[in-house]
Amino acid sequence: MKLKDDFLWGGSIAAHQVEGAWDEDGKGLAIMDLVTEGSYGQPRQIHAAFQDDSRYPSHRGIDFYHRYQEDIALFAEMGFKALRISVDWSRIYPNGDDEKPNLAGIEFYQNVVDELKRYQIEPIITLYHFEIPLNLVHKYGSWKNRKVIDFYLRFCETMFTALKGKVKYWVTFNEMNHIDPQTEASDIFTYIIAGLKYSELTDKAQTLAIIGYNMTLASCAAVQLGHQINADYQIGCVFGIEPVYPIDSDPNNVLKAFKQMDRDFYQIDAMCNGIFPQYKLEEYRSQKIKIEVSQKDAEIFELGKLDFIGMNYYASSVAEYEGAVESKSALFGGLHNPFLKTSKWGWTIDPVGIRYLLNYTYRKYGMPIMITENGLGAVDQIEQDDSIHDNYRIEYLKQHIKEMKKAVELDQVDCVGYLTWGPIDLVSATTGQMSKRYGFIHVDLDDKGEGTLERKKKDSFYWYKDVINSNGEVI
Ligand code: BG6
Repeated sequence: MKLKDDFLWGGSIAAHQVEGAWDEDGKGLAIMDLVTEGSYGQPRQIHAAFQDDSRYPSHRGIDFYHRYQEDIALFAEMGFKALRISVDWSRIYPNGDDEKPNLAGIEFYQNVVDELKRYQIEPIITLYHFEIPLNLVHKYGSWKNRKVIDFYLRFCETMFTALKGKVKYWVTFNEMNHIDPQTEASDIFTYIIAGLKYSELTDKAQTLAIIGYNMTLASCAAVQLGHQINADYQIGCVFGIEPVYPIDSDPNNVLKAFKQMDRDFYQIDAMCNGIFPQYKLEEYRSQKIKIEVSQKDAEIFELGKLDFIGMNYYASSVAEYEGAVESKSALFGGLHNPFLKTSKWGWTIDPVGIRYLLNYTYRKYGMPIMITENGLGAVDQIEQDDSIHDNYRIEYLKQHIKEMKKAVELDQVDCVGYLTWGPIDLVSATTGQMSKRYGFIHVDLDDKGEGTLERKKKDSFYWYKDVINSNGEVI
């Protein structure tokens, strides 16, 4: 098998990390509008109200809201076949529970989509990428409350209808899998995904389980709704998964690694098999967590099966084991893998992991997979002649694309697209920094939010253009 002729090469961005214009044209407040910048090792602060001496990176983003034409022209110059964007829910329903949508918000996304289509770039629309209206958190308790599912579905219906005939690919949620009682939680992680601070949750395990369940249900209901609105819609859900390796060949450690990786898959099981997995309900029961699957819910799971699985891949990790001194995941610089180097932000660099993940997932479900994010956050330097020699980024992407190709060509995995994270520099989700740069296009903005916002092509811009142009033959 070769990469298909219509293989979706491109990139992914998210509204709260690029748009800026946080209070323009009727947009309401969304959760990330109250999160400050942080840095490696220093978490972003989550504020209840704006503070004069604090900076909130989402407010300016990289000003994609006003510069999307310029940015899309640059993506087109690289030959992009697809761009994944997210719709900020708070632009469409400023409070989440409004009677009527904000037409200016809809118009903005229609314009962005039209601009993409002008260059034959396939829009891939994420309906939830860390952007819940703040009012839904304060008034209803976020995803703990099933009413929020109804508000979400109304928002989905508005977008499925508004972009009908223009958009084929949809994503219901980005990375809901990070919320689960079994997963290591932190304030910023639970906040990014659900607008709630982990430390403030009462009955933590029960709450995380309900949020995970309600989001899974909401995704299945959205898939069903989307298919009713247009049977041709291809609707996926995106997961952020790290392959987990055992520390050694002790069978107990091998099993632990398997279990640790597998726990990130229960929502994919539900969405691909059409039934909420029994083993997860059993696990809940053993922890005194109460989750009931009603007959109505069971029907929603059954009728809301995905068309494709989206995978965000950055790093792998090593499973914890009895007596481990370090106890954090590799994403945050935890258990050391002596075979791998890490990025400046402590994320392991593991190209083979992408092949492993693609194989693992495809063998489980036999469903098309799209790599919806992959990339290296690094510090770039601008030379005197304005050039940016980001060969480390090229090297990272090159090695990952090679392994992805092996998964397709040698292992026969049906991978339908490869989108880099941050084809243009943008605000980091976990640290709020600009200096953690992912882009092929440099944006003149620093960690203090200062700069002209001017765009500049890096060396990787020309490299990726050749990759796309040759459908992955010239890497
Ligand atoms: C993914 C998210 O998990 O990781 C993105 O979907 C995020 O929103 C990306 O930006 C990279 O993480 P960070 O913290 O480097 O921006």
